[in-house]
Amino acid sequence: MPQIIDGKAISQMIKDECRERVAVLSADGKVPCLAVILVGNDPASTVYVGNKKKACEYIGIKSLSYELPETTTEEELLALIRKLNEDEEVNGILVQLPLPAGINEDTVIKTISPAKDVDGFHPENVGKLCIGQPGFVSCTPAGIIELLKRSNIEIEGKECVIIGRSNIVGKPMSLLMLRENATVTVCHSRTKNLKEVAKRADILIVAIGKPRMITAEYVKEGAVVIDVGIHRLEGKKLCGDVDYDDVAPHTSAITPVPGGVGPMTIAMLMNNCVEGFEKR
Ligand code: GUN
Repeated sequence: MPQIIDGKAISQMIKDECRERVAVLSADGKVPCLAVILVGNDPASTVYVGNKKKACEYIGIKSLSYELPETTTEEELLALIRKLNEDEEVNGILVQLPLPAGINEDTVIKTISPAKDVDGFHPENVGKLCIGQPGFVSCTPAGIIELLKRSNIEIEGKECVIIGRSNIVGKPMSLLMLRENATVTVCHSRTKNLKEVAKRADILIVAIGKPRMITAEYVKEGAVVIDVGIHRLEGKKLCGDVDYDDVAPHTSAITPVPGGVGPMTIAMLMNNCVEGFEKR
């Protein structure tokens, strides 16, 4: 039987640690503050933003909520970000992605002060990650490192294959695994012989956005499998990028969906907020 990596329990531990750190700060009259910006009414984004605000409340982080209409212009959004950059009370700024058509995401991300970029998306923070300097790290990949470490899974010297090369997950994930001294391969839609490459992995991290694509044929016996995907199937059941029932019996450890990687993203966002506040 594989070890089922319990993201719900591990994320709760991290949130409780954050809560204790905030209690210490609050005793001194210091309260971290996260500004959360949602543009438009994408249903998934609305749920994510609601969960982020709830987590802030649990931990004791003050959250400022900006819910802007779909018709918001890029210039209006940039003006709000510039105002929040200058606001001494605010130490974290989060703009929920994706943004409506007509607003350039790169411009928005670049406008957030790198010192308040708790998502770790600003090119300065990505560059710092690349050259091994401290900075904010993208929450989902940072959460995966925590899942592995807190499940006592060794990373150093292991063959790690990452499927997916997005700016939010695949690329920062590869840099973090490299920092942990894994040997890293990044695969994508043009990779030849994907099954053969994936089968080399001691640790296989899947972030491709295709429901149940990864079957047992892609997985070496005894590998650790981390599933970043989340999809709602007809009939409402949730599944990941990995065909769990097919793959799990061949692994030594695996993340379930839901309850694996998903809850870690918010926990690490909270961690980034508190850490950013402690360091400033
Ligand atoms: N949309 C999907 N994931 C994320 C995330 O981690 N941060 C933000 N800001 N938007 C997202």
